[in-house]
Order: sequence, then structure tokens, then C-alpha cells
Amino acid sequence: METKRFQIYKCPVCDTVVEILHQWSMELVCCGPAMVPLRAKTRRQDGWADHAPSVQKVPGGCRVAIGDSPHPMTKSHRIEWVELVADGRSHRQFLCPSQPTEVVFTVKSATATVRVYCTVHGLWQSTIRRIPVSASSPKFGQTRMACS
Ligand SMILES: [Fe+2]
Repeated sequence: METKRFQIYKCPVCDTVVEILHQWSMELVCCGPAMVPLRAKTRRQDGWADHAPSVQKVPGGCRVAIGDSPHPMTKSHRIEWVELVADGRSHRQFLCPSQPTEVVFTVKSATATVRVYCTVHGLWQSTIRRIPVSASSPKFGQTRMACS
């Protein structure tokens, strides 16, 4: 199997998630069976409203907010990370339980692709071709905290 850079794979046994950084022709194995490539869900899938990443320009960068209402952020069900890809660079923020589902990236691009990983509902993705300028204050409160 040919892997591709930035593909996300998950182990069907232990739920370990990995990302491909170097393209290669081999099968990824974790606990025995092959790891499964995750296909990012988009606005056509059920659950989009709870995981939809919205992006707005704010002073100093781009703010990404997840969902129409705050997504659960418990230990077992949470947004584990948010990735913003812009101008050929990947920016990722890991989130801890109880953290707000909003991240500010110091990115000034006009376009971006955002990926969000929910520990229960998987990978979600949205491509924003023209990032709007924020007209209001943050939806759920800003965070730049690092997850330990
Ligand atoms: Fe979820």
C-alpha cells in the first residue's frame, strides 16, 4: 500500500493515531492488523455541525472554532487536535479535556485547509478558499494553551 504525506492512520486495536510524514510503499501495522487510513469527513456527513471548523482572520492570525455549539471536551470524547494547513505549512494545536474548542494560529494566509480530530467521531476537514475577517469577539473564548 502506498502511503501519502499527511495521511492519518488509526490502529483498529489500540486506537493509536499516526500521520505520514514520508511517502512510502508499505503496510502500517501497530497491534497486528493493518492500520486503517482515516478518510476526512466533510459537510456532507452527519455530525458536521458538531465538528465543523470555521476560520476567521483576527489580529495576529487566524482563529479556528469548532462546531456550531461547543463540542464535548471530556477525557473520552473531545477534539484532540486541530490542524491548519496554509501556505505549504502545517500548524497543529493539541487540546486537553475541558479546554475551549477554539485555537488561534499565527497564520496570515487568505486560504487554509483545517483538519479536526474527534476521539469519538474521527477526522473532519474543511477547505476555506477565502478566510473572512472576524466581525465579533471569540465565540467560546480563546486559547493558546499547550497540552502536557
Ligand atoms: Fe465528536
